[in-house]
Formats: sequence, structure tokens, C-alpha cells
Amino acid sequence: AKVNFHHPDGAVDAVEAESGTTVMRAAVRSGVRGIVGECGGQAMCATCHVYVHEPFLDGLPEIGEDEEEMLECTAEPRDERRSRLGCQIPLGGDVARIEVDVPASQV
Ligand code: FES
Repeated sequence: AKVNFHHPDGAVDAVEAESGTTVMRAAVRSGVRGIVGECGGQAMCATCHVYVHEPFLDGLPEIGEDEEEMLECTAEPRDERRSRLGCQIPLGGDVARIEVDVPASQV
């Protein structure tokens, strides 16, 4: 799967990730700045917050209960449509390609 991480300064990290991983893991493994993943993907820290680009929202799984709660605790304001936790976005299958904005801060 291909993931493009857009940074607030305009820089883009293009990451090639294996199927079965998540947006958060792909970012951490590739050293993408701004994605922390403190809780290791348990939907318990919100340091993997991303803003998904509109065209890619449709293929994503529904927001779960834990994710819903953590999205209220993000460092940067939640966007009602585009905010997701990167650890709750699986790659591969329906998500062969995705583009996300990285928030200015995760802490
Ligand atoms: Fe902690 Fe996603 S890595 S909520």
C-alpha cells in the first residue's frame, strides 16, 4: 500500500507499506515525523492523529468506540470528517493508497 504523509510545511513523505499494517505503523517504521504512536496502536494515546484527504474517506472502516473517545483528546483540533487515528486505519485490501495530513503537533 502507498501512503503519502503531508506535513504542515508542505513536505510530503511517500511511504510504501506492507498489507496488514496500519497508517501509524507505516509512519513509525519509516520515521515520519509527527506520528508518534505512543500506545503502540491500542487507540489509547491519540498521538497517531491524522487528517485523511477527502477522496480516501470512503474505503475506511467505521470509527470504533475507543477511537471515538480518543479523537476527543487530540493535540490539534478534531476535524469532524477527516480526523482518524492512524493506528485504526488498516492498509491493504480496501486501502491500497491513502493520503493524509499530519497535524502540526501531537503533544
Ligand atoms: Fe495510540 Fe493510535 S497509536 S492511539
